[in-house]
Amino acid sequence: MKKRLIAEVLRGGQKDELVTIRGWARTKRELKEFAFLEANDGSSMANLQVVLHTDLPDYASVLKQLNTGASVEVSGVLVDSPAKGQRIELKASAVKVYGEADPESYPLQKKRHSFEFLRTIGHLRSRTNTLGAVFRVRNACAQAIHKFFYERGFIWVHTPIITASDCEGAGEMFAVTSLDLKNLPRTESQEIDYSQDFFGKKAFLTVSGQLEAEVMAMAFSNVYTFGPTFRAENSNTSRHLAEFWMVEPEMAFCDLKGDMDLAEAFLKYVFGFVLETCPEDIEFFNKRIDNTVLATADNIINNQFERVTYTEAIALLEKAKKKFEYPVEWGLDLQSEHERYLAEELFKKPAIVTDYPVGIKAFYMRLNDDAKTVAAMDVVAPKIGEIIGGSQREERLDILERRIQEAGLNLEDYWWYLDLRRYGTVEHAGFGLGFERLVQFMTGMANIRDVIPFPRTPLSIDF
Ligand code: 4AD
Ligand code: MG
Repeated sequence: MKKRLIAEVLRGGQKDELVTIRGWARTKRELKEFAFLEANDGSSMANLQVVLHTDLPDYASVLKQLNTGASVEVSGVLVDSPAKGQRIELKASAVKVYGEADPESYPLQKKRHSFEFLRTIGHLRSRTNTLGAVFRVRNACAQAIHKFFYERGFIWVHTPIITASDCEGAGEMFAVTSLDLKNLPRTESQEIDYSQDFFGKKAFLTVSGQLEAEVMAMAFSNVYTFGPTFRAENSNTSRHLAEFWMVEPEMAFCDLKGDMDLAEAFLKYVFGFVLETCPEDIEFFNKRIDNTVLATADNIINNQFERVTYTEAIALLEKAKKKFEYPVEWGLDLQSEHERYLAEELFKKPAIVTDYPVGIKAFYMRLNDDAKTVAAMDVVAPKIGEIIGGSQREERLDILERRIQEAGLNLEDYWWYLDLRRYGTVEHAGFGLGFERLVQFMTGMANIRDVIPFPRTPLSIDF
């Protein structure tokens, strides 16, 4: 008998077809002459209904073992289902229980569990409807991203996770060391002697692959990197993780406008792909999690994003009849309440805010002619706030050197980055998309901890 994924059976399985499925028992219902098993293997939101008749070999003992959470293999024949809402069901001729799940202790019994509770069972929560749907959508987003760039001729480059340079210059890096912390080597001046560390100097987990992506863009024109990034910022919010995935395209011969155009086309493409490939999961989110999910997707795909400068945004915020918690003032960074007001209440769609004050943005962003602002752009979205941060990069050596020094960073640490401006420099631009924020945006999930399988946040690293 052909081994099939449950999604395939539900979609294309034909009456009288013999199939074998494997998965985990979601529920069991015993009637007089037969029993129903709902089986799920993660390939779809919907379960496959299995009918077990009393004449099945070992009926009684199999049924006893078939509790919620047990792993099972069922072979049988597909028959039309008399039940509402399903086309087909599986009439079992052989059932094998691989591993039982004790109903006294298995925590996922048939009832609604809070997301907080599910986080305490991170090793089991993917077996629930909601987390199952989240991770299928997450996968579809990742596939869409690679497809988008592949179709446009971007080279996928792999940037390092361990690095010696701080891309954002914000000092939010986790140190990586193999030194014995109980017995640290010291220099004569009693500083820690990193020359004796694994790499012979201080090393960190990367906060962004951008600097290395710029290196590759200066050879391949259009590239992107997609990998985990790390921030040791002590932010306990529903939108921050200490380990998150970032998608970072980088384009040579490209300015800020080209960068914005790419970001907008990119988001539209990913939303379109997910709607097409995960309709059931998206329906589920729209029905159970956030009833604006479908309208949001439609809005993203069919409307042009608003584009405003930071200076215009500040003026709009000053005019707003809304009390903000944080001050609105030219020169201060936009807080997520401000970003959300713009996207959610004012424009009612994503907005791209450009040309931020030089004082609040990273050293690599290109200085505008006014010398007060930089060619930065943030895409801010309803509910999420900042989802993409990017810029045109400073391609002029003298200005870049000055900006690095003004940021309090060491020029020597960036010698290779500066070399890109010495040899064949060209205007270039890129951005970083927070992958989990994208998945949140797509699914309506309120907390970022519930869109990554194993969230890392302050004081939390179980599983
Ligand atoms: O705005 P950020 O800090 O930009 C960069 O790192 C640039 N080097 C990117 C580039 O131009 N190549 O981060 C980019 C995005 C943010 O817009 C946000 O969506 C996400 O990464 N992000 C986080 N997501 C989850 N948890 C955190 N702690 C995040 N910090 C940033
Ligand atoms: Mg940012």
